[in-house]
Amino acid sequence: MPQKGFVMKKQRSSFTGQIGFVLAAAGSAVGLGNIWRFPYLAAQCGGGIFLLVYIILAVTFGFALMLAEVAIGRKTRLSSIGAYGKLDRRFSPLGLVGSAVPAIIVPYYCVIGGWVTKYFFEFARGRCHEIAADADGYFDGFITASARFLDNPMPWFLIFLLLTAICVLAGVDKGIEKVSTFLMPVLVVLSIVVAFFSVTRPGALEGVKYYLLPDFSHFSAMTVLAAMGQLFYSMSIAMGIMITYGSYMKKEDDLERSIGQIELFDTAIAFLAGLMIIPAVFAFSGGDESALGKGPGLMFVTLPRVFADMELGGLIGTLFFLLVLFAALTSAISLLETVVSIVDDKAHWGRQRSTIAVTVFVFALGSLSCYGYGSGIIGAIKPFGMAFLDFFDFLSNSVIMPIVAFFTCILIGWVTGTNIVSDEVELSGPFRRKHLFELMIKWIAPICLVAVLVSSVLENLGYLRYGR
Ligand code: PHE
Repeated sequence: MPQKGFVMKKQRSSFTGQIGFVLAAAGSAVGLGNIWRFPYLAAQCGGGIFLLVYIILAVTFGFALMLAEVAIGRKTRLSSIGAYGKLDRRFSPLGLVGSAVPAIIVPYYCVIGGWVTKYFFEFARGRCHEIAADADGYFDGFITASARFLDNPMPWFLIFLLLTAICVLAGVDKGIEKVSTFLMPVLVVLSIVVAFFSVTRPGALEGVKYYLLPDFSHFSAMTVLAAMGQLFYSMSIAMGIMITYGSYMKKEDDLERSIGQIELFDTAIAFLAGLMIIPAVFAFSGGDESALGKGPGLMFVTLPRVFADMELGGLIGTLFFLLVLFAALTSAISLLETVVSIVDDKAHWGRQRSTIAVTVFVFALGSLSCYGYGSGIIGAIKPFGMAFLDFFDFLSNSVIMPIVAFFTCILIGWVTGTNIVSDEVELSGPFRRKHLFELMIKWIAPICLVAVLVSSVLENLGYLRYGR
């Protein structure tokens, strides 16, 4: 099946060698997952132990899975929907299940993108100190509000969604991609500055310890589940996206090395975000349970306090939120594009109609997440006891993605054989971590995935406790 209209079609020619591939994949990978999601999960799930588990998973599991996906894409030259089926007919539904993930993620991704837009706007008009004075109250008031127009999350969600949709419609994603590859290093430098400032606050040292030193008493099956879900999310794996990226990679590019670079970049940004936020939680709130367990709001209540404490904090904060906005936008574009091209491929509506239809769908589903924390009717509905945003996040990251990952391992490890990947990797050089790869795909990953899935079901039924 041709990948008609797929985002990468336009970028295929722009993958000028290895670096083009690495930058494009990193543009999709680096986003809110690194800056917003990673720190709050690390804070919630035991700090150092979460970081350790995450890093171990990234270099073993994440490496193996991303490598497998990119290799499948490069070998079959198909996007995920066709690729799995080409390897083995019985596995073709896997492509479809995987593609459901972006459709679940993109609505709430745009809600968070809207929060970032709002914070950027407020910082830009000089409200840094005002927000920091009551950061918790401000944030809670904002996400629960149904009040004045610009004070509630809906218009911001809409702005971010429309921005994303316009980029997709106008096909300017390539331009955005270019801008963002230029801005990404700026984000890294700025993050280092802010992280340095954060860790030198009085009282922050406890937070540095909490974040960097693993405390094994905080370890649980849920730590692994949360870290694994985060890994999939952050690296854009277990949803077929990397297969598509792989399908546009040149045969002579070093696959193994490219994967290593993407992983390193993605993990480094997540690590830095944690270093910006977690020590600051200790500096400003003493690191008590409720502050660490703040969840999705953590970045939004912590960072304004950091900026308010800084010389030129208003300016630095504005710049920071702008850069995060860009990182979020490139990821959101790649998510929305994926959904649009699937719809277009199946329904043959043409890009414009497909984009409009998908945007309406995203708006409808996203509204649930947008108002899910409020006191209205939507806020009162709590699927499995969670607010909508947390529910969709859980459904995609902790349920569907582990299932897709599991069957990908079975397909490669046991049905086609790992040679299908090894041979592809060896086309462009020696496969240095071949044994690790085989061991992961055939044994360790599938066993861990089953264990993790079972424990997640148990957790939901109330037999296990999430996090710390
Ligand atoms: N990996 C992105 C992030 O960290 C999210 C994303 C997932 C983007 C899937 C594209 C595809 O924010």
